[in-house]
Order: sequence, then C-alpha cells, then structure tokens
Amino acid sequence: MSRLIVISNRVQAPTEESGSQGGLAVALTAALRSTGGVWFGWSGEVGETTEPRFATFDGVTSATVDLPEQDVEEYYDGYANRTLWPLFHYRLGLTEFERDFEGGYERVNRVFGDVIAPHIEAEDLVWVHDYHMIPLGWFLRQRGLTNRLGFFLHIPWPPTRLLTALPQHRRLVEALFAYDVIGFQTQEWLETFHDYVVREMGGAIGEDGEITVGGRTIRAIACPIGIDAKEFMANAFGPEASSAFDRMVTSSMGRSLIIGVDRLDYSKGLEERFNGYQRYLETHEDAHSNVYLLQIAPPSRASVQSYRDIREKLDAMSGRINGAFADIDWVPLRYVNQGYPRPVLAGIYRAARVGLVTPLRDGMNLVAKEFIAAQDPEDPGVLILSRFAGSAEQLQEALIVNPYSPDDIADAIARALAMTLDERKSRWRPMFDGIVKHDVSWWTDKFCTALAAD
Ligand code: F6P
Repeated sequence: MSRLIVISNRVQAPTEESGSQGGLAVALTAALRSTGGVWFGWSGEVGETTEPRFATFDGVTSATVDLPEQDVEEYYDGYANRTLWPLFHYRLGLTEFERDFEGGYERVNRVFGDVIAPHIEAEDLVWVHDYHMIPLGWFLRQRGLTNRLGFFLHIPWPPTRLLTALPQHRRLVEALFAYDVIGFQTQEWLETFHDYVVREMGGAIGEDGEITVGGRTIRAIACPIGIDAKEFMANAFGPEASSAFDRMVTSSMGRSLIIGVDRLDYSKGLEERFNGYQRYLETHEDAHSNVYLLQIAPPSRASVQSYRDIREKLDAMSGRINGAFADIDWVPLRYVNQGYPRPVLAGIYRAARVGLVTPLRDGMNLVAKEFIAAQDPEDPGVLILSRFAGSAEQLQEALIVNPYSPDDIADAIARALAMTLDERKSRWRPMFDGIVKHDVSWWTDKFCTALAAD
C-alpha cells in the first residue's frame, strides 16, 4: 500500500500536548496510521528555520516548519485570509488585492515544495489541502515529482465572474492542473469550476470527472467531507457531554434552547442571524421568556481588520437585543466568545430544541452534521440550515432558509419550535442515516481511491 503524504496549512496530527482532535484530523490520522506517511504544514509559529521538525506520536509522523513574520503577514493573513477567503466566499467588497500578498503566497508555497519534496518517496500518494496551498502541486512538479498528487478544497469555489476579479486568476487555476485529482465539497462548486475551465480556458469536460485543458487531463470530483459520526455520538452520551447537557437543562429552566456555534467569521452570517432572531422576538411576544438563543462564537483571525469589525458589530448587536427584550428574569441572547471541547458541544447540541446554522456561504459546515449526530433519536431537535451551506446539498430534510432574510429565519424558528415529535423524527432520521453512511472515513476512502486510480 502506498504511503500517504498530507500537506495542509495547519497540522493537526496528534502530539503529546494535543487534546481531542477534530473529525478531519481524526480521519487523516487514521489514514496516515494505516498507510504510514507524514503530515506536513506550518507550525503556526514565527521563525526563520525552514528545516522541518519531525515528531512521531501514536503511530503518526508530523513535520512542521516555522514561517518568517513577513511570510505570515503576506501568505496567511494576506493572500489566504484577505484575498482568497473573502473572494471564494463571494465577498468581493472585503477582498484585498495586493501584489505583496500574492508574492508572499507563491514564495511560501515554493518554500514548502522545496522543503517537502526531498521527503517524498516514489510511490507516495500526496494529498494537499485547501486554499492556502493551491500552487504547491505545481512547485512539487517543478522539483521533478511524478507522484499522484491530489488537492481538496474545503471552501466554496466561486463563480467565474467573481473569480476573474482576481488579477492572477488564470495563473492560480492553471496551477491546479499540476494535480491528478481535485476534490470539491459539493456538486455546485464542481460545476462552477467546470464553468471557469470551459469559459476561461477553453477546456473540455469529459466523462467520470475528466477535464482536459491544452493536452493535460485531470479528474475533478465532488466529495463532501463527513464527520466521525460514531465518535461524535459516543461523545454525545459520554460523561463530559452528559454534564454539559445537565448544565444546559438546569440553566434553561424549562425554556427552549436555540443553539448556534460558529468561528467568529463574517461568512457565518451571524449579523443576519441576530437580525432574524430579533425579528422572531418582535413578532412572537408570546414566546418571550420561553426561549433563548445561545450563540457560541470563538474569535478567529484577529489580526485581520474585517474580523475585528464583525466582532465589534456583534458585541453591539447582542447588547442591543438584550437591552430591548430582556426581562429581570430572562436574557434572550447568551453570546459567548470562547470555544468548547467537542464532547461539551455534543452535550449542548443534545440539549437544544433548535440548531441554527445560517452561513451566508460555507464550503460544508460540519456543525450542522454534528448537531444531527448528537440528537436523541426519541426526541430530536430541529436543524435550521442555510441554503448556502455546502451541507444543504445533503441535509435536505432540514428547514432550509435564506440566511439574508430575517423573516425567513424568524418563520423557521417559529416553525421549528412548534414542530410535532413525529415530524421532528421523520426529518431527523434520513439526515442521521446519511451522516453515518457518508462519514469522514467514507470521504478519505473516496478521495484516496480516486487519487490512487491511474
Ligand atoms: O475550513 C476552512 C479553514 O481555513 C480550515 O482550513 C481551517 O482549519 C479553518 O478554516 C480555521 O481557520 P484558520 O486555520 O485560519 O484558523
């Protein structure tokens, strides 16, 4: 069996210090453990040494490099998070176009190629992850690598007319043709990619995902990422989750809990969600005191101004909503800026009557899947899901909403809270079965099988 080489901006292989890993990390770790191989990436630290630091723990080897401060600013804060992230999430107004960012992005990808290439053996399968590393495959080919190279995009692929606003869009997409297989989260992002290839590159789309441009044929597939459903369910009924569940039940005092859990990011639609919840409170006075929204939003990417702006806005909005609606013994919105371990979240999800997942644009959104996995089959909560989350292609029995519309969100909250047990069960069951069937191991197997097939 070929070894697997995983390359991503952040390395989440287990270490002696790391606590519980996320679902993606668990799946990739399992794949690395069974095939052998290495997980390469940035250490998250600023430093001048480019020699990778190898560490093996629990049967999995990771190798990390530090990045000089200028690289962090131009590659991670800059091109990744101020150019590609907003553009790929359809936010042209927030997208910054700086040549220095682009230069830093290419430089870091080239250095990664130089550092990693000597450690790749002839038969290794190489799997590169996400928008931070699009040109890495091209740099690896420059170093003479002939291995099977795969790339998976965790975020949306933008429409052609948006992507062409990027000054070097064609160069970026051409670099993708260094890979043998490219994976997208949904059929929709795959189709928008096809559209670019046909319109801008004169490419041809063949059968079974084949794409040919200028004599080079690669495969592009839709391969939605899943969660480790079994582990998450076990979490949801374990001791940490049970204690979080009890804490929520006690502090709810019989009120229905609506839960939102998101990284504090403008793509998550938190402002719009608060507006929708406010609309619900305005139009359902009878529900006051009987319901509350718990929004957990750990801050992220705080060195980027647009993230500081959204945090300030939400601080102000949460204060305004509570100021306008709270009573001496009822707070309608609990807004919490810290993260919680996954088992604790599982317990909170299980205690919730409604899961509110309303991103304006999201590659997949695993919170939606985790919410479903954590529910009690005999008394499941209701998922309200944005039509613009990648997971909406699979979770069609959710209450699907337009996250831009406060009325849509308010109506869905009212409908979810009034839903009969029978309807809740009949909506939850097929979503749950799908999550168990298309879990994270299914995803790694599907991608790696496509990558290994010549
Ligand atoms: O899902 C997209 C993504 O960029 C992941 O690659 C990353 O792990 C996550 O969001 C969190 O972002 P960051 O690594 O910038 O904190």
